[in-house]
Amino acid sequence: MGTQFYSARQRAEWATRTEVQFLRLARSRARFIAERDGRIVGYVGYDRSRQTLTECYVHPHHQHQGIGRLLVRHILHIAHADGLESLTVLASLNARSFYESLGFVFQQAENLDMSDGQILPCCQMRASLTGGAWSRNPACP
Ligand SMILES: CC(C)(COP(=O)(O)OP(=O)(O)OC[C@H]1O[C@@H](n2cnc3c(N)ncnc32)[C@H](O)[C@@H]1OP(=O)(O)O)[C@@H](O)C(=O)NCCC(=O)NCCS
Repeated sequence: MGTQFYSARQRAEWATRTEVQFLRLARSRARFIAERDGRIVGYVGYDRSRQTLTECYVHPHHQHQGIGRLLVRHILHIAHADGLESLTVLASLNARSFYESLGFVFQQAENLDMSDGQILPCCQMRASLTGGAWSRNPACP
């Protein structure tokens, strides 16, 4: 997570989310991984019922090589095929311009409540998947 945007305490709290919490999340969402030489280098999550891209992470050693773009594109195509009209993401501040480059538009600032009472400022973003807007999306082939 972006060191310019979040404090060491906020990053530490995020990193210590329990395995149980992650397992609960894993059961409710579809996940896709990116592999390189047999190793996982990134993953993306999708929750169809909430019309949400739930997260996208790329290993720091493999960032800025187009992997995040491929993962998000994959979800946009699945959501489009699922008949969704739009897809939202609660983006961390450091990822805002990444999602903008993929056609997401800032909707509003939103705070994510952390278990220790801290808040993590984020932004709610939305990509339209209908008609003209979809065909102009940079993620559209
Ligand atoms: C954000 C993240 C998923 C991007 O993945 P990535 O594989 O590095 O991104 P890509 O290489 O596919 O970049 C695609 C485009 O996004 C744009 N971009 C803007 N801000 C960016 C950023 N902080 N990181 C990467 N790309 C960014 C670039 O224009 C880039 O296109 P370019 O390479 O032609 O310049 C990755 O940096 C990451 O895991 N960050 C930490 C976790 C995080 O904040 N995830 C989002 C939580 S919702």
